Amino acid sequence: MRIVKTILPALCAIALCSCASEQGNRFYKLTNASGMEVTVTNFGGRITSIVLPDKEGIKRDVVLGFDKVEDYYPENNQTDFGASIGRYANRINQGRFSIDSVEYDLPKNNFGHCLHGGPTGWQYQPYKVVEADSRHIKLRMDSPEGDNNFPGAVTAFVTYTLTDDDKIDIAYEATTTAPTIINMTNHSYFNLSGDPANHSICEDELFINASQYTPVDATYMTTGEILPVADTPMDFTVAHKIGDRINEYEFEQLKNGNGYDHNWVLDTDCDINVLAAELTCEQTGIKLQVYTDEPGIQVYSGNFLDGTVTGKGGVVYQQRTGICLETQHYPDSPNKPQWPSVVLRPGETYHSHCIFAFSVNQ
Ligand code: BGC
Repeated sequence: MRIVKTILPALCAIALCSCASEQGNRFYKLTNASGMEVTVTNFGGRITSIVLPDKEGIKRDVVLGFDKVEDYYPENNQTDFGASIGRYANRINQGRFSIDSVEYDLPKNNFGHCLHGGPTGWQYQPYKVVEADSRHIKLRMDSPEGDNNFPGAVTAFVTYTLTDDDKIDIAYEATTTAPTIINMTNHSYFNLSGDPANHSICEDELFINASQYTPVDATYMTTGEILPVADTPMDFTVAHKIGDRINEYEFEQLKNGNGYDHNWVLDTDCDINVLAAELTCEQTGIKLQVYTDEPGIQVYSGNFLDGTVTGKGGVVYQQRTGICLETQHYPDSPNKPQWPSVVLRPGETYHSHCIFAFSVNQ
């Protein structure tokens, strides 16, 4: 029997609620002994700036974003800049999945699929601040049964901690009242030059610790195959410039992704101590190393940035002026039983851990 569960009353309640939060939405600043500063807003659980000195001691802000909290509201800008994405980062095929033979139908907000938890995903809602000091901030999302049609009431936490050795440690946790799916990530757009007006991420070097990736079709939907990167433009097992091969659209995956917009299958064995990816900007010497206990990383080279969004300091963000390194389970995992599961059941706790470690090459 096919039961399609739609939970409309709850969805309507969410659609009616605005961006307001009881605590108000504001910026929170984390600082450390070496002079690094990270700013976060509870709205969408977003990182809004990461400022650190470059090889010449000049302070650089290495993520895209906006000057004011209100600029992050979807009615002002529909972007995922810096966001804590939930409930399900990445795409679910036609918004459909089932758990224990019960089918669910999510809103389709991207080429016929559900992307990043739907049109009112957590990145467009206020998180509650449950702890905050100059070193860390803990945010809470209370997501009701039927939030974007997902089953179960979920309580999720995102904790950002800035360490003295320039690491941003991001810990996710969630519990549920009924079987559901969860896959959280951070959606920061990095530009390690600190100068997105003049510097494309194509100039920067990328290493990905992955010998395989998951290809997509022309609607950006993961096909279910796992293919080797060897001898293709997807091979970043040896660090090289992102722009070296990004425009080789005769390679179908780059055409389908409009550049890089794919999940790489990490060779890290979900070990947070093993390097997953590394991004380096020669101009500033700033290096970002990514560590995670997730099996995959979505690398999105900012292909949809098109000069229609004006960010911090009035800078217009053009194509490929930011790159996202989104640690996560593979896209459409709810429909790919052969892949690591994203199902969360009552009594279990979801954990995900990501570290963005910064340093400077002299
Ligand atoms: C996806 C892109 C999408 C972007 C939107 C990325 O995670 O892979 O296809 O356009 O998010 O923010």
